Amino acid sequence: MVTLGGRTALVTGASSGIGAAVAEALARSGARVGLVARRKDRLEQVLARCREHSPDSAMWAADLADLDGVAGLAAEVERAFGAVDVLVNNAGMPKRRRVQDLAPADAEEVMRLNYLSPVRLTLALLPGMVARGHGRLVAVGSVAARLGPPHEAAYAASKAALTAFWESMAVDLDGTGVRVHVVQPALITGTELFTLPGNEEPLSDVSEGRPPQEVAEAVLDLLGSERFEQYVPGWFHEMTAGKAADVDAFVAGVKEWTRDRLRP
Ligand SMILES: NC(=O)c1ccc[n+]([C@@H]2O[C@H](COP(=O)([O-])OP(=O)(O)OC[C@H]3O[C@@H](n4cnc5c(N)ncnc54)[C@H](OP(=O)(O)O)[C@@H]3O)[C@@H](O)[C@H]2O)c1
Repeated sequence: MVTLGGRTALVTGASSGIGAAVAEALARSGARVGLVARRKDRLEQVLARCREHSPDSAMWAADLADLDGVAGLAAEVERAFGAVDVLVNNAGMPKRRRVQDLAPADAEEVMRLNYLSPVRLTLALLPGMVARGHGRLVAVGSVAARLGPPHEAAYAASKAALTAFWESMAVDLDGTGVRVHVVQPALITGTELFTLPGNEEPLSDVSEGRPPQEVAEAVLDLLGSERFEQYVPGWFHEMTAGKAADVDAFVAGVKEWTRDRLRP
């Protein structure tokens, strides 16, 4: 596994779930970690755990959906840390709602946090990485980016946009020393994603989900590799390959699965 002694890392959405697990794993690997999210009290708890391994870690309470504040936040972190070597864009929100129940503002809200905000943060920190000839840009996407799950059109589109941006960016940055990775999780429990208000109950059975630490391990694996994308759990990779081989059969299968799940 990768060691990050002397490196700095910024993790968004670090107050709970996957982001908290990733921040702690990065701190254990020796990185000085910066944590961002809105809830100060929750960030303080995660920061205390990170400081057990990496005492100079720090936190910033910020609303990343406020796009006008994102570049200022990036500049503040760079000033405090000197540089950001690893950026993990993890903050995100669900939007579990049938498309018939979706308002335009819902789609815009989820796109703002899940896509536009990470793009702004990345573009703000990228010049420093390119100038130093070193950097790692990680996105926490979702299998929804590749599989178009039911009742999640707005969410899936935001993660697909993020993944597409990351894929092109990986090619553009070839030879710069800045590497680009995306981790695509599914059914990770012990996070708040499946219980946040304003969302339908998940259609999938989340009782046998995987812990956020598995995503953190995948992020550390990716950071030590040249690989672009990793699914957690890994078997979703085969599902995306099956979809690519026959999209019509895949969509027909998902319709059937959804009808079964909704049957009283
Ligand atoms: N759990 C899964 O099965 C799963 C599957 C695929 C992808 N993901 C992705 O993994 C990422 C983390 O999700 P999670 O499952 O760990 O859920 P979570 O526990 O709800 O974590 C979401 C994080 O994002 C932060 N956040 C939300 N809105 C924010 C805002 N406006 N400004 C700043 N931070 C904000 C939250 O902190 P505050 O509320 O304190 O701001 C929290 O730290 C998300 O991008 C999600 O889409 C999760």
